[in-house]
This record gives sequence, C-alpha cells and structure tokens, in this order.
Amino acid sequence: MNDVPTPVQDYDVDAYRADFPILSETMRGKPLAYLDNGASAQKPRAVIDAMRNAFEHCYANVHRGAYDFSERTTAAYEDARETVRAFLNAGSEREIVFAKNATEAINLVAYSYGKTLKPGDKVLITEMEHHSNIVPWQLLREERGIELGVIPVSDEGEFLVDAYRDLLDERVKLVAVTHVSNVMGTITPAEKIVAMAHDAGAKVLFDASQAVMHMAVDVQALDCDFYVFTGHKLYGPNGIGVLYGKETLLDAMPPFLGGGDMIATVTFEKSTWAELPAKFEAGTPPITEAIGLAAAIDYVTAIGLDRIAAHERDLLTYAMQRLSAVDNFRAIGTAPNKTAVISFTLGDAHPHDVATIVDQQGVAVRAGHHCAEPLMHRMGVVGTARASMGLYNTRAEIDQLAAALDKVNAIFG
Ligand code: ALA
Repeated sequence: MNDVPTPVQDYDVDAYRADFPILSETMRGKPLAYLDNGASAQKPRAVIDAMRNAFEHCYANVHRGAYDFSERTTAAYEDARETVRAFLNAGSEREIVFAKNATEAINLVAYSYGKTLKPGDKVLITEMEHHSNIVPWQLLREERGIELGVIPVSDEGEFLVDAYRDLLDERVKLVAVTHVSNVMGTITPAEKIVAMAHDAGAKVLFDASQAVMHMAVDVQALDCDFYVFTGHKLYGPNGIGVLYGKETLLDAMPPFLGGGDMIATVTFEKSTWAELPAKFEAGTPPITEAIGLAAAIDYVTAIGLDRIAAHERDLLTYAMQRLSAVDNFRAIGTAPNKTAVISFTLGDAHPHDVATIVDQQGVAVRAGHHCAEPLMHRMGVVGTARASMGLYNTRAEIDQLAAALDKVNAIFG
C-alpha cells in the first residue's frame, strides 16, 4: 500500500499488550482482535491485581468503622478520589463524586441541577448524543417543563458551531454535549463550546465517557461546569463512574439519592446533608471499583495519554487507508478531529451480519445503533458496525478486520 504512515516510535505496543491477560485468549479459535473498546475496554493486570489485593488483604466498608481494615479501606477509597482529582486537574476532592457509571452521573445532574430550572428554561444537546445524554433531559422536560434544543451535526459528523450559536439564547441554562462521539469518534470543540455557553450565561456538561482514555483533560483549564465519565472504558472496572462538578454548583444542588453516608443528621422530622462529596454518595459506594479505577488511571498516566493518542492516531490513519480499500466500505463520521473510532457500513450487509461474520474470524466489533438512535436517523442508516481502538490495538488487528470484511463481501457483495 502506498503512503502508509510510519508507526509511532518508542511505543512498545507488544509490551502493553502483555499487561492485558485477556489479549492472549483466542475467540472462535482465532487470535482475538478486540476492537470494541468503545463499549468496554479490557483490563490490565495492574487493575485486576489492585482489586484482588483489596478483596484478599484489606476489605471493609468505608466511612463507617473504627477498626484498622475499615480505616485503611476508607483511605484507599479516598486516595482513589485524589487520583481522579489529579487526573482531571480538578481544584478539590470535594468536586469529585463517584457514581455507578456515566449514565448515573448525568442523571444526578439532570435530577439535582435540574431542580434549579424553571419551565421554559432550555437545555441544549447535540444530534450525536448517546441515549444517556438524551433521555435524562427528556425526563426533566416531562417533570419541569423545560425545553430541549438539539444542535445539528454536519454530514461528516462534525459539531456545527454556527448552528450552536443560533440556538444559544438567554433561555439556555445548560449545554450538555458529548466530548467525543461514541459512534463516530468526533471530538467536539470543547473550549469553544464552554466559552460560548458562558458568554450566554449557560453552564456546560460534557459526557466524556469516550474522551478520557484518548486525551489528557484539565477541567480547570477547560472551565466546564460538569464533566462525567465511566471507569470501564478507561481500562478500569465497570460499576464506577465519575462526576466532576464545580464546587459552588454541587454545593447549591439538592441530593440525588437519599440514604446512609449522605446525611449529617437524621430525625423523623428532618434530615440534613453531609458535606461534599458525600452528599451525593448515598449508600455503600463502589469501593473496590474506585480502587480499580485509580489503578487504571495510574496505568494510562504512566504510559502517557499523549503517547496513547499518537499511537491511536496512527492506527486510525492506517485503518482508514486499509478499510477504504475494502469493497463496499463506507465510513460514517469522518470529522477531521476524531479519535480512533470507525463506524461503517458494508454495502447491503446488515451491521449485525457484519459483526457476526467477523466474529467467526476472531474480531470483536459492535453493531447496531450504539445507543444513539437519533444519530442513526441523521446519518440515514439503520445502524453501523463499529471498530473502536485502544492503547493495545495493532495494525495486524486492522488487517485481520479487513480480511474478515472480505469474507462478508464474499457472502453479501
Ligand atoms: N456506550 C457504549 C458504546 O458506545 C456502550 O458502545
């Protein structure tokens, strides 16, 4: 092939692959090519060990016991919060709330920040949101009579700044947008989105579920008001998500869930709330999951997010060249600024058939609407197949996918 880019130097992908025990497994009797990192990433040994060590050597509930194991587990849980704070460069640990996942974190904001909104206030989202950043606002619309505005995307899947400007009137109180599209990998112009929203008097929430594993983020420099992500796409465990919120906003918001740990005092007449961030962490939290997430953050930080991003850019360039040469391949979402996520169709083959056939060749891709049905309608497709890459993927795996797509074409083409 002509003009194949030079791979990133000084990036020992084989060494990183060796950190992930599952990558040496086979699938359907073939070497596993795991290209479904957008749905969930695999876990390095460091994460598995951190969680196993906690269970095997020091586990108890947090914030509740006066004994050594509870104190040490509490310290590990709070250390994990500090790791997340440093990862995002948040100003304070009070601004880091652990949730079950990004969906719960967005629902928290919709419920609690939503209580400050009045009928006629507007929330803006985009056409490329995941259902988790659509449905909570629809629920809020039903409950409080707010309005929901939708910022369109271009045919290439780009965020349309001019259309955003036109929608940003004084009734907009919150702009809730994805930082990176889960379907297309489009990176939205986050700084511009924040600056324009703030000029218009609106707050900004980013769904960063598909962002934080691909790029370094500084929430203070970005000046966003809320930033949410999930652990399991960041090479950490499932069952943990993060809400970053500016302290003044979180402080002013009512609790989301009620229960243990989120209170200061309880009587039958009245309860009062704990300080941040406990106010938003009712019940026993995801303790071992927080410890696992911290280990995942330490892992990617040690490699360096800039180096991971460079490796993934190389893979994206290579994959677009390689896959474009496959008959009937059509990429959905070709924004110039995007992560290594390739959604595509292959002639008349249904995306589910594509995924099923490539699975027989050991290749894991996701197929369907990717929890983004409105985007599928916008792009005029019923669904797509999606290859989403991560820090351990290789050109050889892209070749394996391309060869598997030839088999799809042999059946459907
Ligand atoms: N939101 C995840 C994805 O895009 C599950 O696959």
